[in-house]
Amino acid sequence: MKQTTDFVKMKENGEKIVMLTAYDYPSAKQAEKSGVDMILVGDSLGMVVLGYDSTIPVTMDDMVHHAKAVKRGAKETFIVVDLPFMSYHLSMKDTLLNGARLIQETGAHAVKIEGADEVNDSIQALTKAGIPVVGHLGLTPQSVGVLGGYKVQGKNAEAAKKLIEDAKKCEEAGAFALVLECVPKQLAKEISSYIKIPTIGIGAGVHTDGQVLVYHDVLTYGVDRVAKFVKPYVQLNDDIEQGIKTYVNEVKQGIFPSDQHSFTMKAEELLSLYG
Ligand code: KIV
Ligand code: NA
Repeated sequence: MKQTTDFVKMKENGEKIVMLTAYDYPSAKQAEKSGVDMILVGDSLGMVVLGYDSTIPVTMDDMVHHAKAVKRGAKETFIVVDLPFMSYHLSMKDTLLNGARLIQETGAHAVKIEGADEVNDSIQALTKAGIPVVGHLGLTPQSVGVLGGYKVQGKNAEAAKKLIEDAKKCEEAGAFALVLECVPKQLAKEISSYIKIPTIGIGAGVHTDGQVLVYHDVLTYGVDRVAKFVKPYVQLNDDIEQGIKTYVNEVKQGIFPSDQHSFTMKAEELLSLYG
């Protein structure tokens, strides 16, 4: 299994890092089997698995519950778990206890937290306490209300400069990797060459050191539409709908179950039922 330092080495060697989200036993098993370098138990589970409109309602208990299932499915893969909304803003003690819980109770290897400025203090404290941290800059969905929607970040020079500085501070605080979400590809390239820790992009172009996508987006599984930056590689919705419709029809028409799917008993046993 890869370690935090291996991801930094991959960057040095120009080897792309592939991260994929997973939320349960089957998705984790598939991610591991398919060769992803890192699994993210993202709080996006609130939207793609639990059906909320945003990641805001996701709780620590939700993250622990899903991360445990992911760990059971992917015992040989590096697992990062999102600290959810408001789990690292109240006090440093709270932040450390929540970070510890995510790795102690689930067997995951690292946590991810969104934001800059005072969040860097949390990155530093978690890292010093022995909990590896992935930063997350650009579009930070837990702050969607403040950002005014899911929009590309860092498009003007001033915002771009702030993002470059934030990335540097995140590295200095001790993060071993940095997710860049929804930033122009030119800016993601600048940031990636400016810092030594690997950048993992989503909607950040091809020049980041790695990519991350949401499991359900990659497979078109349960999601109705996907963002511009998503490439759906399979259309699972179609297969699932077709499969379930066929099942419904076959039961209604008495086609299923056929003999092939049924058990039988000898005729004399059946007769002796009635003496
Ligand atoms: O929750 C999530 O899936 C994420 C990725 C989009 C980076 O944070
Ligand atoms: Na997230």
